[in-house]
This record gives sequence, C-alpha cells and structure tokens, in this order.
Amino acid sequence: MEYIFKIFRFDPEKDKEPYFQEYEYDFLPNVSVLEALIIIRNELDSSLSFRYSCRGAVCGSCGMIINGNPDLACRIKLGILNTKEVVLEPLANLEILKDLVVDMVPFWKAYREIRPYLHSENKFPEKEQRISEKQMERIYQFINCILCACCYSACPVVSKDENYLGPAALAKLYRFVKDPRDRRPYSFLKKINTQEGAWGCHTIFKCVEACPKDVRPVDGIEGIRRKLIIEKLKRFFGIKK
Ligand code: FES
Repeated sequence: MEYIFKIFRFDPEKDKEPYFQEYEYDFLPNVSVLEALIIIRNELDSSLSFRYSCRGAVCGSCGMIINGNPDLACRIKLGILNTKEVVLEPLANLEILKDLVVDMVPFWKAYREIRPYLHSENKFPEKEQRISEKQMERIYQFINCILCACCYSACPVVSKDENYLGPAALAKLYRFVKDPRDRRPYSFLKKINTQEGAWGCHTIFKCVEACPKDVRPVDGIEGIRRKLIIEKLKRFFGIKK
C-alpha cells in the first residue's frame, strides 16, 4: 500500500523554521514505523535523523509522536494506524537536536535526581537479598519502564514547569521506595515533598495513556504521596516503626 509519510524536519544549523517533508513509499502493513523510517533514510533521503537501537521495544530510544500520540516507532506497525498518512514528530517537552532527535538531558537529569538504585544498609551483603513474590508484584509494573520519555513528552505539567521531575522519574522512585530492601533516609524523601516533585502531578493520566509498556506512572506518584503523608504522621505522633 502506498503510504505518505509527513516527517518533521529541522536542522538548527541551517533551517530557520521547522517544516514537514513528505515521502511516498509502498510498504506492507506489517512493516513498523521504525523499519519504514530506515527504508526512507536508506532509499529516499540520507539526511533524515532519528534515534533507535534495539528495534524490539526494549531500549526506549525510538520514542516519537506518531499521528499525534507518543509511542515507540519500533512497536507500531503501519497496518494498525488505519490510515495511509503517517505524521511523525519529535517528542514534545524536549529540545529538538535534529529532525526526530531530541535532547534527553533534562529527562536524564530528573532520573538521576531520584538516585535510581537500592539504598541498602549493607553495601556488600554476604548472600542475595530476596523479596517475596507479593512484594515483587507491587513494584513489577514500574520495573517494566524502559525510560523512553513518552510519558515525559505527554505530561502537561512538564510542558509548564521544566523543573518538575516528571512521571518516569517519580514512578521509578516509587519502585525503590516500595522495595523492602531500600533503606533511603526520610531526609531524601523530604526533598521531593515539593511541587517540582511528588505534588506537581495534576493526575490528568496522560502518562498512563502514553506509556507503551502499560506502566501507570500516576499510581507510583500517588504511592509516594501516601508514603510522605504516613512518614509525616509517624513523626508527628512519635511512632518509631
Ligand atoms: S528501538 Fe529500542 S525501543 Fe524502539
């Protein structure tokens, strides 16, 4: 079937304004958007820039806006779009480096701020520290996050406040906070007891709609808020545990 790709183009080194460029090509419907992009670049326009690595919805690097929705280009087959027109734009809320490639630095900066690793009491335990299946179930969906930034791109709060940590970082923080092996001090949690942290979310659920891995970042944010309130009450009433 003949598809028309309208692709966002912008090279800050030579373009004054962004524009859309059209490419027509005969693709089978089971070709993914990423495969189509690779063919367009190889056969029609070698100047086209986009990011990818694994091609299997694992690395999270091919996030872009496909017909208005943030998603992974390697995950979406042309056939499921139900249209022969495919409009591709870079992820929103991040600066454009070239064409479909965005600057991920603010996203990674937010991620680093939550210190995304287990803060264990014993840095060198003698044996592995296991958690129960039930405990694992509580955090499992957040482990599935591949940090593609689709939720960050969809988040209306990020679009208004560049200091907001965003759904992915906060959901990952919940993954650690909820892990019984994590011993990060309350002073760390207090740092995100702010509008730029746990209280910035307006619960609009755009992150849930955008996540290609069915993670619900908003659930993690709610979990962190609950934890903050419980810890505050415990301190108020002098409860130790
Ligand atoms: S190329 Fe790795 S997630 Fe798409």
